[in-house]
Amino acid sequence: METVIEMNQLGKTFGKTQALKEVTFKINKGEVVGFIGPNGAGKSTTIRILLGLIQADGGTATIFGQDVWKEAVSIHERVAYVPGDVNLWPQLTGGEVIDLFLSMRGKKVDQERKAELIKRFEFDPTKKCQAYSKGNRQKVALIAAFAADADVYIFDEPTSGLDPLQERVFQDYVKEVKARGASVLLSSHILSEVEQICDRVAIIRQGEIVEEGNLDDLRHLTRTLMTVKTKEAVPTLKDQAWAHRVKEKSGTYTFQLDSDYMNDFLHFITPYSVVKLESAPPKLEDLFMRHYETVGDS
Ligand SMILES: Nc1ncnc2c1ncn2[C@@H]1O[C@H](COP(=O)(O)OP(=O)(O)OP(=O)(O)O)[C@@H](O)[C@H]1O
Ligand SMILES: [Mg+2]
Repeated sequence: METVIEMNQLGKTFGKTQALKEVTFKINKGEVVGFIGPNGAGKSTTIRILLGLIQADGGTATIFGQDVWKEAVSIHERVAYVPGDVNLWPQLTGGEVIDLFLSMRGKKVDQERKAELIKRFEFDPTKKCQAYSKGNRQKVALIAAFAADADVYIFDEPTSGLDPLQERVFQDYVKEVKARGASVLLSSHILSEVEQICDRVAIIRQGEIVEEGNLDDLRHLTRTLMTVKTKEAVPTLKDQAWAHRVKEKSGTYTFQLDSDYMNDFLHFITPYSVVKLESAPPKLEDLFMRHYETVGDS
């Protein structure tokens, strides 16, 4: 596997705030990696270091083996970036800004590709940027990014203003650039999006990667949502170490089961005469929520 982005014990302090403590992870060629974590966890800081916009004060970060700070100029020829907050020149039209972004890359603009993107994103390029809504400003940046023939795409909450249909268009293009071997780092709070398109996720919390792996590996660590109805009451269910958030309503219990304890649960529950049993696969959301929650919650 060819490593495209590599971060090693990356650290960054702003005044008294230690935004990044030790961020270590890699992205391979052709990989789409989701980057998730609560507000203020350090996602944008990590991304800004990767883009060479701010300098790390500890550790190393490279893209294509080049130092992201010292060799930012040559790296940028192969990287496309879309932030969540897109600021544009108010007096230029969307189409003019797309052309401007693309001409700054120094390569010949693929007009056909650009036109296709504008159509797929249902974007009107003739209006002045000051008149665009948040979602439309994001489209300007997304169209310019996907029209660029980059090897690495870095997205920092790129779809927070898009409607569900346009969100799908975004996902389709991510899949397309991945198919031709590009790598994607996607910071997002939209977990369904991450679940749909990412090969791997890295979860950051308080400046550290707390979990990393492919989605199936991570699901293994999560809880399964259980619903069980029994003939007899199960008052001790809530006392079991593997059962969380036990709720009861007219004889039906719902709770979260530590996924590795399914068999223990089955042994436990059969004496109560099971009438109905349902289990729902853990969602990325459940995993994510656990990393939001404070200690002591179960
Ligand atoms: N320029 C700055 N000056 C001071 N503190 C900063 C600066 N940039 C970021 N921080 C702090 O660093 C920490 C990480 O912020 P960052 O923007 O990376 O979080 P994030 O994970 O992107 O959050 P969000 O999900 O809200 O976008 C926060 O505590 C933030 O307040
Ligand atoms: Mg951010």
